[in-house]
Amino acid sequence: MKSQSIYSSLLLCILTFTHFLTITAERCVDIPDPLNPSKQVIVDCPPTVNSDAYVKRQTTNFFEVTHNCTATAALCNKIKEAFNDAGKEISKVLELKQIIKVNATFTDLINPFLLGSAGPARYIPLTSDDKIIRSYPQALVKQFSLSTHPEYNDYDITARLNAAQNWWFRTDNGTIGSDQYDFYAVILHELIHGLGFISSWSNLLETLVDQDTTGLTPFPDFGGDNDSQFEGFLENIFDKYVKFTRNGVVSTSTDYTSQLNESVPIGTSFDTVEEFLARVKSSPQWEIAEFTLESATTNDSLTFTPAEGTSYKEVIYLESGLYPYDQGSSISHVSEKHYELTPDFLMTWSQDPGITLEFAIQRGGNHSSPIGPRILSILESMGYETESFPNPIIPTYEP
Ligand SMILES: *[C@@H]1O[C@H](CO)[C@@H](O)[C@H](O)[C@H]1NC(C)=O
Ligand SMILES: *[C@@H]1O[C@H](CO)[C@@H](O)[C@H](O)[C@H]1NC(C)=O
Ligand SMILES: *[C@@H]1O[C@H](CO)[C@@H](O)[C@H](O)[C@H]1NC(C)=O
Ligand SMILES: *[C@@H]1O[C@H](CO)[C@@H](O)[C@H](O)[C@H]1NC(C)=O
Ligand SMILES: *[C@@H]1O[C@H](CO)[C@@H](O)[C@H](O)[C@H]1NC(C)=O
Ligand SMILES: *[C@@H]1O[C@H](CO)[C@@H](O)[C@H](O)[C@H]1NC(C)=O
Ligand SMILES: *[C@@H]1O[C@H](CO)[C@@H](O)[C@H](O)[C@H]1NC(C)=O
Ligand SMILES: [Zn+2]
Repeated sequence: MKSQSIYSSLLLCILTFTHFLTITAERCVDIPDPLNPSKQVIVDCPPTVNSDAYVKRQTTNFFEVTHNCTATAALCNKIKEAFNDAGKEISKVLELKQIIKVNATFTDLINPFLLGSAGPARYIPLTSDDKIIRSYPQALVKQFSLSTHPEYNDYDITARLNAAQNWWFRTDNGTIGSDQYDFYAVILHELIHGLGFISSWSNLLETLVDQDTTGLTPFPDFGGDNDSQFEGFLENIFDKYVKFTRNGVVSTSTDYTSQLNESVPIGTSFDTVEEFLARVKSSPQWEIAEFTLESATTNDSLTFTPAEGTSYKEVIYLESGLYPYDQGSSISHVSEKHYELTPDFLMTWSQDPGITLEFAIQRGGNHSSPIGPRILSILESMGYETESFPNPIIPTYEP
């Protein structure tokens, strides 16, 4: 029985232009609340000399979690234990080099359908090997050990978990109830979103101004005088490997983004989101936004092609079976239709009550890790190092 979704935290959206800062060459995007991805704060992130301490290779948990837990001490302890176990599990499969800092809040989210949400606390623009500028999650940028990097946020990942859910903790050693959710499974899922398992494509431009969804775009970047000038659409590094299929024709996310980049001349100033959106929608390139929405809501039309040399060689289907499009669930997950009963179940969009992670692993073929080969290969493609992929593609930063 399907029920609640694990909402991922998509970013990509601008609330109003009022919070934009004055001109800066170095700008990053902070998402203070993963449950409200439309609230994006453009911040200064000037070049900073790398001062990261060396982290011992034998560290068993690279995740350092700051907890804000409003429950009983006993419950808060179980939450800490689950985060600790999830951090260790991810640290087993990724060859991390730097500590990843998580700001975790456990509180009533006043929404019975929500389990929780997490995402990168900051996105940092860097130049990929194909010379395209893309947004990288801060947790990943840290692993690159660039000698100079844009200034970091105090936290890499923001996570919010719903205290009002009926959670099951495996450390209780009890049987899961039919209406309970495995907390540890949700934390693993959410931390992987926090590592950057998120697409930049969304309908947030239209939803921001209360218009019906007719198309999807990546995050529009603004800069120049009082940050009112359009500077192009920015993909996430995840999107570098995403492909949309329509009427049998396959197009890369990058190709679609560069076409959308032509919808409005770079440098054009806008006073409001409405004005900008009206301009993009009246351009011939808006059909690209319509095509991506069509692919994102048609089964088998959205794929991820892993980077060359990663541990998984085949094309991976992303979630495009939800109709209508769901901002938190479509695209930024692997296809539930294809992978619910495989080792890659962890990153499908929904979680069933009454099912433990252990059961899902057995159902998926008894793979030794809850992080399946497709999930791992997606993380490798983005630039995370693993035992089987020791030389990931590192982007460049020229301050
Ligand atoms: C931690 O996350 C909460 C909830 O998203 C946010 O309100 C708070 O400002 C964050 N704390 C810091 C220090 O960033
Ligand atoms: C902890 O979370 C609560 C509820 O979201 C919030 O009101 C409070 O400010 C947070 N405290 C800290 C120290 O972040
Ligand atoms: C659950 O089992 C483990 C291993 O046997 C044990 O260490 C732990 O104390 C048990 N937890 C509870 C709450 O009984
Ligand atoms: C879109 O335009 C921006 C600004 O010119 C550029 O940085 C980016 O690389 C372009 N993206 C693509 C996919 O062409
Ligand atoms: C940005 O600056 C221009 C020219 O200085 C001005 O006309 C425009 O109203 C400003 N836009 C905003 C959103 O403040
Ligand atoms: C995709 O396939 C699944 C499983 O076959 C089905 O339940 C779902 O309705 C389909 N979605 C669309 C958009 O056709
Ligand atoms: C996984 O292992 C369990 C217990 O060893 C077994 O019952 C189950 O059939 C196995 N599942 C698969 C898909 O092989
Ligand atoms: Zn998710």
